[in-house]
Amino acid sequence: MLLLNIQSSPRGAKSALIAVTNAFLDAYQALHSNATIDTLNVWEENLPDFDQEAIGAKYKGVNKEPMDEAETAVWDKIQELAVRFEQADRIVLGVPMWNFAYPYKLKQLIDLACQRNMLFTYDGTEYGPLLKTPRAFVVYARGGTYAEDSPTPGYKARILKFPERCSESLPPSLSMQNPPMPEIVSMHCSRVSKEQDGVPVASIP
Ligand SMILES: Cc1cc2nc3c(=O)[nH]c(=O)nc-3n(C[C@H](O)[C@H](O)[C@H](O)COP(=O)(O)O)c2cc1C
Repeated sequence: MLLLNIQSSPRGAKSALIAVTNAFLDAYQALHSNATIDTLNVWEENLPDFDQEAIGAKYKGVNKEPMDEAETAVWDKIQELAVRFEQADRIVLGVPMWNFAYPYKLKQLIDLACQRNMLFTYDGTEYGPLLKTPRAFVVYARGGTYAEDSPTPGYKARILKFPERCSESLPPSLSMQNPPMPEIVSMHCSRVSKEQDGVPVASIP
């Protein structure tokens, strides 16, 4: 059982999000002795920019055309990232709220890894998934409280929409919009209010 642990906080030992995610992973490994974890921290992965070379590689890769050295290097990294998704039996995703959205480095990973005919299909009309991952667990974390009695209650609606907005931005292979997508269990926690909702961590199979 291989868990792909995608972490998008750069804050290491200071990160509440990473602490919560690691608590989940520890509990998971205690229940599933055969579980191994592949951690992909988007800040430590030396992700290439999605620039002219990357876009050239993407189109040449799809069309199986020869690439120059720079394009080959980006395409090799893209394939390496896609394989990590393809091999995962489960995906764990840690998402910090940054300005009511998710960090740009996570989008960079998505733009690199989510390639047609690697993670999803597109026949000109419909998108379809290629990942076999049946379940994913997403931990969302934010620093603020937006309760009615807080100084910023007006943002509560945006907070509640945060997971939905994140999943809408994800490509079809990862989003929950198009069945048969992975079942996504989410946990939304705030450092300030210590709120938690979702299901108890240990019950995630
Ligand atoms: C650049 C940046 C933007 C942030 N924006 C928000 C925000 O819009 N709302 C919020 O509640 N917290 C915000 N925070 C706080 C983080 O959501 C908080 O630190 C949370 O615990 C994220 O994970 P971490 O524990 O890895 O930092 C922001 C933090 C950073 C560094």
